[in-house]
Amino acid sequence: MFRAVIEGTGSCLPEYKLTNDKLEKLVETSDEWITSRTGIGCRRIAGPGEGTSKLSAEAARRAMDMAGVAAEDISMIIVGTITSEMTMPSCACMVQKEIGAVNAYAFDISAACSGFIYGLELADKMIKAEPEKKILVIGAENLSARVNWRDRNTCVLFGDGAGAAVIGADESGRGLLASKLFSDGRLGDLLYMDSAPSMNPYINMDPAEAGDFDPARLGCPLDDEGSYIKMAGREVFKNAVLAMENSVDQVLDEAGVSGRDIDWIIPHQANIRILHNLGERLGVPQEKIFINIHKYGNTSAATVPIAFDEANRGGLLKSGDLILTCAFGGGFTWGAEIIRW
Ligand code: ACO
Repeated sequence: MFRAVIEGTGSCLPEYKLTNDKLEKLVETSDEWITSRTGIGCRRIAGPGEGTSKLSAEAARRAMDMAGVAAEDISMIIVGTITSEMTMPSCACMVQKEIGAVNAYAFDISAACSGFIYGLELADKMIKAEPEKKILVIGAENLSARVNWRDRNTCVLFGDGAGAAVIGADESGRGLLASKLFSDGRLGDLLYMDSAPSMNPYINMDPAEAGDFDPARLGCPLDDEGSYIKMAGREVFKNAVLAMENSVDQVLDEAGVSGRDIDWIIPHQANIRILHNLGERLGVPQEKIFINIHKYGNTSAATVPIAFDEANRGGLLKSGDLILTCAFGGGFTWGAEIIRW
């Protein structure tokens, strides 16, 4: 059976480092609070020329270099992002243009922090149908543009960056062994980000008040309060712990392995306490959990592919290793996957 296998990884982080010390000057917080509650010490902030698509394209080039795959050989580009520079064209189409992947079709996935693992499962399904294809799966965000820098509850958590993987087919038993993905839109109010700029004022209006269509009333000013990430942190935390544990149990079952068989956990990096809980529950020692949240914060869809790239380039992943990856994000969306490296 053909399975999706990661043939190359790449990542790209903005230059600017926003440390906890610098944040102390922006909002009422402290390095001690941020480090002990989240594990974050620094995050990268995109500057000129470092938009979501530019970071994505550079991560993609590095992944293609590693895989030895030319841009013309890429047949599909999937970008998990909630912070594309534009609503249209998609970030994936902008990446296609940037790297010259003229034979690909390209689209974005909006699944917040789970965007990359959603993309991996999709790529696996495509590869099973057409094993000769090469697919780029990317997770990328420019969250610094969408956090309220006056809100200490959220602004300390997020950062910018991109990670990419070139996916091909493998028949030898390596690749994506099992995947369990979920979402629950009923809990969307606990973590959301309005898209005020494209809101049509008519759609939420009482029909009795709407009257005749009047184009003059379609102006849509940016609401200062409305377009930033809003999060009920404690509630999200509780849900993230339960949902991740549950999806991990299910994916281990599906793959027919136990926590003790796992060589590496390469998880979404939202909070170090969530990751330590997970490791303890599975009986996986802390040193087998790949953690880089201290350097980059939560880069949403980008955390998993950036972590894969750093673990891979750091020589930590050996052929045949059993890797567990998992994520949880706005929507809610979440899931877990098992990969034989
Ligand atoms: N500095 C100092 N104090 C702070 C800060 C800060 N930056 N932020 C909050 N506080 C205060 C609060 O005001 C509160 O004070 P109070 O007790 O006087 O009211 C106190 O610290 C504790 O606040 P909690 O919200 O209970 O803190 P908690 O321990 O839950 O940590 C955190 C907050 C880090 C946000 C945690 O809840 C968390 O990590 N949640 C999950 C995040 C996540 O997984 N998100 C999903 C992915 S994101 C995506 O999809 C884009």
